[in-house]
Amino acid sequence: MWLPARGTLICPLSALDEKPARSFILRGDQETQEIDLILWRADDSVLAYVNQCPHLHLPLETMPDRLLNRAQTALLCSAHGAQFDRTGHCFVGPCAGDRLKRLDVAIVEATNAAGHVVKNIVLNGRLELAGDEPLG
Ligand code: FES
Repeated sequence: MWLPARGTLICPLSALDEKPARSFILRGDQETQEIDLILWRADDSVLAYVNQCPHLHLPLETMPDRLLNRAQTALLCSAHGAQFDRTGHCFVGPCAGDRLKRLDVAIVEATNAAGHVVKNIVLNGRLELAGDEPLG
């Protein structure tokens, strides 16, 4: 699976102010260079996942950015109802026990054109977790 260069800007942190979970597609120079990822902000941290349900490898949402369950406590796959906790672990649904692939992101400060300090979310790469399968 293609990943953009370390430090690639995904979005400003403020992009998650109204919807704490959103998906983003990042593209490279070549047609095959594309990744669909999810950012989920809770408290002061942001977690990232490849937007691909382990059940049938579909994106989680069918409506734009409708990624969380009603209680806003878990990511929800709209295809067959799988739910994932903050670690990406599926705790209910047809792929229970499986997990989303996690990505490593960081919040970095930058100065915008107006001279204001803003916080951006950048991609650091793949998050290595025990038990994860290779991205391919
Ligand atoms: S594709 Fe996600 S639960 Fe079936």
